[in-house]
Amino acid sequence: MTDSVVIKEVAARDGLQAQPKHLTLEQRQQLIEALAETGVPELEIGSFVSPKAVPQMAGTDVLAANLPAPAISYSALVPNMKGYDAAIGCGVKTLAIALAATEEMNQNNIRMSLEQTFAMGEDLMTRANNEGVSVHAYLAVAFECPYEGPVSPDVVLSQARQLMACKPARLVIADTIGAANPGAVRDLMKPLVEEFGADALGCHFHDTRAMAMANVYAALEVGVRQFDSSAGGLGGCPFAPGAKGNVATEDVVMLCEAMGYSTGIAMPRLLTAVELLSEFIGSPQGGRAHYWLSKNAA
Ligand code: COA
Ligand code: ZN
Repeated sequence: MTDSVVIKEVAARDGLQAQPKHLTLEQRQQLIEALAETGVPELEIGSFVSPKAVPQMAGTDVLAANLPAPAISYSALVPNMKGYDAAIGCGVKTLAIALAATEEMNQNNIRMSLEQTFAMGEDLMTRANNEGVSVHAYLAVAFECPYEGPVSPDVVLSQARQLMACKPARLVIADTIGAANPGAVRDLMKPLVEEFGADALGCHFHDTRAMAMANVYAALEVGVRQFDSSAGGLGGCPFAPGAKGNVATEDVVMLCEAMGYSTGIAMPRLLTAVELLSEFIGSPQGGRAHYWLSKNAA
C-alpha cells in the first residue's frame, strides 16, 4: 500500500460542461491557472467535442496552447478520432475517452452504438499506444444508466477486461449519475484491483445521492489510489439527466489527508480556486466541508 493518493482535477471539464452559465475562454484559462497552482498532480483542461453538442467546451484548443507553467499532467476528453486528432494536434499528451456500459448512454452521449463505441475505443487506444499518447479509458454509467437503469457488475467486469486488453494508461470506473453505494463500489473495485493492480485503476464519483465520499472511502479500502474530483463539487454530464456534481476535491483532500494519505494539494490554494469558480458561475460553490474548511484550512 502506498501512502499517497493521486487526484485528477476535473472542474475545468466535467465541472463546466453542463453549466447553464458558459464561462469565457479567459475565465476558463484563469480557472485552470488557479487549479494548477494548488499542487494537484493531474488536471483535465476541457474536451475536444462538437461545439454544437457542448458549447461550454468550445475553444479547448486555445487553452491547450496556453497551459500554465506548473509541470503537471494536463489531459483532455475526446469522444472520437476527430477529437483525438484535434487534441494531439495541440500537444495534449493524455486523453480521456468515455465509453459507456450501456447502449442508450452511448447513443445519447456520442451517437454511437455500444458496439461502435467499444470498437472506436479499441482503435483509439491502439493508435495512442503506437503514438506514445496516454489514454484514460472511462467506463461510464458503470453502476446505473439514466436510460436503462441498474448495470450488472458482471457486464462491467467483462467490459473492463475487454478495455484492459487495449492497455490504457488507466481504466476509470465512473459513476456518471451518482447512483453507486459503498458496497457496490467495494464489490466491483476489489476484483479489478486484484486482477489489474491499483496503479492501473481510478474512480470517478458524483454526489447525487450523497454517497460520493463514502464511495471514495470504499474504493480506498480495497486499494484504489487514483480519484477524479472537481473543485467546489461542480459537475455533471449534459447527456446524463439527473447527475449532480462530482465529489468535491476539497472534501477528498480532507478525507485522504485525515487518513494519512498525502495528496500534494495545498488547501488554501484550492479554496482560492473554488472562490474564483463561485465568482465565475455566479453562485457559491463548495463541497460538504466548505464551511469548516474555509474557517480552518491552513
Ligand atoms: N470535435 C469537434 N467537432 C466534432 C467532433 C469533435 N470531436 N466530432 C465530430 N464533430 C463535428 C463534425 O465535424 C460535424 O460538424 P459539422 O456539422 O460542422 O459538419 C458535427 O460534429 C457532426 O458530426 P457527426 O460525426 O455527425 O457527429 P454527431 O452529430 O453524431 O455527434 C459527437 C457526435 C461525438 C461529435 C457529439 O455527440 C459530441 O461532441 N458529444 C459530446 C459528448 C460529451 O462531451 N459528453 C460529456 C462528457 S462524457
Ligand atoms: Zn463525471
